[in-house]
Amino acid sequence: MLGCMPLPRPSAPSNPDRSQDASTRERHVWRIQSAGSLANLKLVTDSLPPPGVGEVQVRIHAVGLNFADIFACQGLYSATPKGPFIPGLEAAGTIVSLGSETSNWQLGDRVMVLTRFGGYADAINVPQATLWPIPNDWTFAQAAAYPVQALTAWYGIERLGNARKGAVVLVQSAAGGVGLHALQALHSLEAKPVAVVGSERKRQWLIAERGLAPQTVVVRDREYSAKLDAALRFHRASGFDVVFDAVYGDAFRPAFDRLAPEGRYVLFGAADFMGSGARPNPLRLLSSWLRRPKLDPLAMIPLNRGLLAFNLIWLWEQADRLPESMRATLALIPSPPHIGARFAFDQAIEAMTLLQGGQTTGKVVLELPVE
Ligand SMILES: NC(=O)c1ccc[n+]([C@@H]2O[C@H](COP(=O)([O-])OP(=O)(O)OC[C@H]3O[C@@H](n4cnc5c(N)ncnc54)[C@H](OP(=O)(O)O)[C@@H]3O)[C@@H](O)[C@H]2O)c1
Repeated sequence: MLGCMPLPRPSAPSNPDRSQDASTRERHVWRIQSAGSLANLKLVTDSLPPPGVGEVQVRIHAVGLNFADIFACQGLYSATPKGPFIPGLEAAGTIVSLGSETSNWQLGDRVMVLTRFGGYADAINVPQATLWPIPNDWTFAQAAAYPVQALTAWYGIERLGNARKGAVVLVQSAAGGVGLHALQALHSLEAKPVAVVGSERKRQWLIAERGLAPQTVVVRDREYSAKLDAALRFHRASGFDVVFDAVYGDAFRPAFDRLAPEGRYVLFGAADFMGSGARPNPLRLLSSWLRRPKLDPLAMIPLNRGLLAFNLIWLWEQADRLPESMRATLALIPSPPHIGARFAFDQAIEAMTLLQGGQTTGKVVLELPVE
């Protein structure tokens, strides 16, 4: 998938000391004029000003793709900016310029970055609260695959889901980016996973690559409910303590109905709403919307079950909580992520189309040459 000609990179700073490099740089970005269709996303050149107060400038070597990038470009993501925007929620690279009041960082530091859009670029200015040093033995691609999806897994599994040792936890899309981090979190917690995927190919991959017991890896097919029951029997459990789900749609009810008393259903997405075209299909969307599962809170009281929902963008906005959140995430999920597909930076649309197809395992990344 890699193999395109490398793009010319933004120039390195001429001053090796900590003084602010005041020059504006030319950079390459993927920009969409207005959300609506992936076909509107264009690779363009623009100017990046010097980093502001408390910001650093990062030359990007790898960009992590997220399912939300596709929703955002199609105009289906609630946090999508109005008007033109650069997609991208995470990246990794090297610090090439320091703004004032950035004493914790040095030129040349290898960092992973959480962005509130703007990550599909070969250079970016970011607030220092949203970057972390890359663990020594990780590649840039692994680092770009970490912040959003690992934070999501930590927040949903441990913080909201309160999963503990011995808990039986259902993970939807378990072979995907977030899903593999969630399995790693459950391994650290010594909880018992039930991994759900959309195809037999992914099921076999999880059994072979992650060593999961075959009875605990379930395909969402016609026998989905019966297979969930079999997985619960395997764990000698009568219900799930936690369900971690970003598929929703038809996947929801069978899992919700099998929550144990005091069980927590953590809902954080609706991949089931995703179609296959560059732009959303209004009829498909309307049908998914009308058929979406709905819950009556009063009916949940006698069942002793809870439903929690979250969007990580909210956590990004709590800048003071980010350092501790990332520390907790790295403690829970210390291993580098699995990269399932690599593309050159100028192949972003091909990469997004592959992710949209729902067949990828682990993370899809865009890579830029490291000089
Ligand atoms: N709320 C938040 O803050 C937050 C943060 C990060 C991610 N998310 C959500 O978490 C989910 C996973 O994100 P990710 O970036 O790690 O992606 P991913 O899991 O690597 O890829 C998405 C997966 O969704 C599943 N899927 C179900 N229905 C689909 C459909 N109609 N079309 C395509 N795929 C479909 C597919 O796996 P299977 O068929 O195997 O299930 C697919 O591989 C996404 O829904 C995303 O929006 C939410």
